[in-house]
Amino acid sequence: MDERLKDVLKRFEGKPDELIPVLQEVQNEMGYLSDESMERIARFTRAPLSKVFGVATFYAQFRFKPKGDTHIMLCRGTACHVKGAPRIQEEIEYHTGIAEGETSEDMKYSIENVACIGACSLAPVVMINDRVEANMTPDKVAGLFKEKRRKNGKQK
Ligand code: FES
Repeated sequence: MDERLKDVLKRFEGKPDELIPVLQEVQNEMGYLSDESMERIARFTRAPLSKVFGVATFYAQFRFKPKGDTHIMLCRGTACHVKGAPRIQEEIEYHTGIAEGETSEDMKYSIENVACIGACSLAPVVMINDRVEANMTPDKVAGLFKEKRRKNGKQK
């Protein structure tokens, strides 16, 4: 078993009512919930694996794939939706080649939808890694990817 997973489980007693905190801690530590982690958590909390998956998939906060080098969080809250978030999502999916909830095979990109980033006055908003990109438009998205390609080209 992964040492980080072992270390997280040591912080708990394995009681069934610890399931959600255990899932949160494992995700915090490892970035996502792998199949191995889910199976181990099920054994640790003495819950059927189907229940662990049922609980984890119910909450939008849990991820089942690792994040890419560039993790894009798309706000789909009301303010962002009204101001064009669906078009922003289409543009991001076009440039990354992946859909919401996915991580690219080369691990360069991952996309996650979130309910509200808490910056509604700047809608539509996207977070790229820890940076907030405000008042997004499809053209701004295209510009960000163009800039990224330019920088990556320079590194070679
Ligand atoms: S709805 Fe997008 S930041 Fe609040």
